[in-house]
Amino acid sequence: MNSNKMRCIAVANEKGGVGKTVTVINLGAAITLENRSALIVDMDPQANATKGLGIDLPENAPSVYDLIMDSKSLKRDDVVLNTRWENLDIIPSTVDLSGAEVELVDEEGRENRLKEALVGLDLDYDFILIDTPPSLSLLTVNVFATAKEVLIPCQTHPYAFAALDELFDTIAAIREGINPDLHVSGIVATLFDKRTRVGRKVLNQLQSDMRYRDLMFNTVIRHNTTIAESADVRKPVVFFRKSSFGYIDYNDLAEELIAKTGFS
Ligand SMILES: Nc1ncnc2c1ncn2[C@@H]1O[C@H](COP(=O)(O)OP(=O)(O)O)[C@@H](O)[C@H]1O
Ligand SMILES: [Mg+2]
Repeated sequence: MNSNKMRCIAVANEKGGVGKTVTVINLGAAITLENRSALIVDMDPQANATKGLGIDLPENAPSVYDLIMDSKSLKRDDVVLNTRWENLDIIPSTVDLSGAEVELVDEEGRENRLKEALVGLDLDYDFILIDTPPSLSLLTVNVFATAKEVLIPCQTHPYAFAALDELFDTIAAIREGINPDLHVSGIVATLFDKRTRVGRKVLNQLQSDMRYRDLMFNTVIRHNTTIAESADVRKPVVFFRKSSFGYIDYNDLAEELIAKTGFS
C-alpha cells in the first residue's frame, strides 16, 4: 500500500446474513462506475465475494490464505486477479483460509499478517474493500488491523440492530489495542423492505438513535430479488441489471462514500 489517497475499508458486522458480501462486491463495482479503481480482498473462508465476481480458482492457485501465511514468496500478480470488469481486482479466498486461525495461533504478530502482506504488494487503488467472516476471529482482527475505515452493513431487523452495540465495543477495543487509526465511516441499512412494519421501525431506530444517527448513510439498500438472480450468474447486480433497486442503491452508496472523507 503505497498511496495516502488510497482508502482501505473493512466491511464488517459480526452477524452473518446482513449483506456484507453483497455490499463489498456491489460497492466495488459501483466505485468503478465512478471512475475509481477498487481492489476487493476476500477474507471470508466461504469465499462468496470471490464466487460472486465469477472467479474460478484453479486448484492450488494462491489465495489470500497463502498471502497471510507466507507473503514473502508471493508477488502482486500471483494473488491479485483481474475480474471481468475494468478497474475491479480481487485477492481471492478459498476454504483453506479457515485453517489460518489455528495455524497462526503461536505466531508472533499474528494480527498484523494481512496488513504486512498488503504493504509488501505495493498496491495502488483508490479503494480497497475487505470482506470479513461473520465472527470475531483472528481473520477479522487482521482486517481491523489493516483498514482505516469500517463500513457496517446493518440489516433492518431487530436482532441486527441489537447486535450493533457489541460491534462498536469490538471496534473500540481494536482502536485501543491494535489500530488507533480505525474509524467507522458509516452504517448502511440493508435488506430494507418498506412494506414491513418492523423494517420501517428498525430503520427509524437506526436514524434516530444517538449512538448511530450521525453515522448513517442516507442511502438505504432495499431488499431486491434481482440480487439473488445476479448471484446465480455470478455477477454483481450493478453489472447485471441497470433498472434494479440494487443497481440504484449501490451506485448511490458509492457516491456517498466517495464524498464522505475526513476520517482517515
Ligand atoms: N439487498 C438485498 N436484497 C435481497 N437479498 C439480499 C440483499 N442483500 C443481501 N441479500 C441476500 O442475503 C443473503 C446474505 O447476504 P450476504 O451479503 O451474503 O451477507 P453476509 O456477507 O453478511 O453474510 C444472501 O443470500 C444475499 O444474496
Ligand atoms: Mg459474507
